[in-house]
Amino acid sequence: MIDVPLSAEQQAVFDRIETTMEHIFVTGRAGTGKSTLLNYLSENTSKQLVVCAPTGVAALNVGGQTIHSLFRLPIGVIADHELQQTDELRRLLNTIETLVIDEVSMVNADLLDAIDRSLRQARGRKDEAFGGVQVILFGDPYQLAPVPGEGDERAYFEDHYRSLWFFDAHVWEEVDLTIYELGQIHRQRDREFTWMLNAVRHGQVTAEIAGRLNDMGARPHPTDDAITLATTNGTVTRINATQLSRLPGRALTARAEVNGEFGGRAYPADESLELKVGARVMFLRNDTPWDGSAPRWVNGTVGTVVKIADTVFVDIDGVRQEVKPAIWEKFRYSYSPLTKALRKDVVAEFTQFPLRLAWAVTIHKSQGKTYDRAIVDLGPRSFAPGQTYVALSRLTELEGLYLTRPLRPSDIIVDENVVRFMGRVTAIPAIRA
Ligand SMILES: Nc1ncnc2c1ncn2[C@@H]1O[C@H](COP(=O)(O)OP(=O)(O)OP(=O)(O)O)[C@@H](O)[C@H]1O
Ligand SMILES: [Mg+2]
Repeated sequence: MIDVPLSAEQQAVFDRIETTMEHIFVTGRAGTGKSTLLNYLSENTSKQLVVCAPTGVAALNVGGQTIHSLFRLPIGVIADHELQQTDELRRLLNTIETLVIDEVSMVNADLLDAIDRSLRQARGRKDEAFGGVQVILFGDPYQLAPVPGEGDERAYFEDHYRSLWFFDAHVWEEVDLTIYELGQIHRQRDREFTWMLNAVRHGQVTAEIAGRLNDMGARPHPTDDAITLATTNGTVTRINATQLSRLPGRALTARAEVNGEFGGRAYPADESLELKVGARVMFLRNDTPWDGSAPRWVNGTVGTVVKIADTVFVDIDGVRQEVKPAIWEKFRYSYSPLTKALRKDVVAEFTQFPLRLAWAVTIHKSQGKTYDRAIVDLGPRSFAPGQTYVALSRLTELEGLYLTRPLRPSDIIVDENVVRFMGRVTAIPAIRA
């Protein structure tokens, strides 16, 4: 990681975190240095601090662990289910003074409440929010929202929460969350581009702005290794297949073993995974060595296939790693509106190498990343609040933007819950003008 000196506002927020026990939400537009501040904090704090993030990719970005693996939480809605805690986990959670979460916009209210409950339980402080731990959240709610689940999960949220967002978690009814907003953008230097991105963020794109973005985006696409950011897994799969076919040599196919019913939902990995030596791949799961040694990769790590035999060998940053198949468990929830209770059972298992081709990624997976060039593929339509903003704001400069089709007004979606919540932003104390 490149060390940059903190800006005055980053420093002021750092000091606030260090010297108080306030629960703080550090927000700001894409590229205002939230993750940079977080990294600085985790290296320079005098507190016992633990860093986590909702997805493997986001966790990788800030050298943390996923929330689910840190708290050993089950996937899906947790509701009021009993939380299993081993002695080891309890001990770990008892050491935390400050808990930091990056990309909190992807954390839903249920998960944040589960974190609160887990900490209270482990620390034996049932009446204190987060069991007395200071919580520091980083993220931008104008970027991607939590992913809504299936029917029963949605019904649960509708009955229990004002919205899916972390800021509507019940824990905030008991304790205050102070919001500090970073104002200075570091990712993009070009004022015109940041101004255009801001318009996309707030759903205020004029014909003039759209014209500028579209003119730039319409140039012929680079044919080398510029990454493609796409809205759907389908598009990502198609692009990756094309790139694979361009590599020399024979493709080898690994078939998944499926036991039980996965229902309408997509498999957690390709049912039929085609690989060649030289293929760019991304890991889909964290490595969890049985002997407790350090994980060799996490969900989101990228590498290149160097050998295919009974297992697959992947070069990660110059180190060759052997990858074996992993098992995913599928759970099913059933929800009764009458009792307001949610029940959960294992209904299926899926076994496959935890790899997928990685010339293209979903916009969802690109959140938090910085790219000098990218091809943005919004497909037939952008369908989630913040999606177009996340894609475009990954770029350091307008000149790096390539579009597969012109932007349309309907590509820009702003969530009204975010507008409601973001009205509460507090000025950063030390730099109040
Ligand atoms: N104080 C600073 N001085 C110079 N460059 C900085 C500073 N802070 C951050 N940057 C750079 O700006 C870019 C964006 O920073 P970062 O990823 O931390 O932003 P972010 O707010 O987390 O963005 P996102 O909302 O997209 O996750 C990075 O390349 C980072 O190195
Ligand atoms: Mg970030």
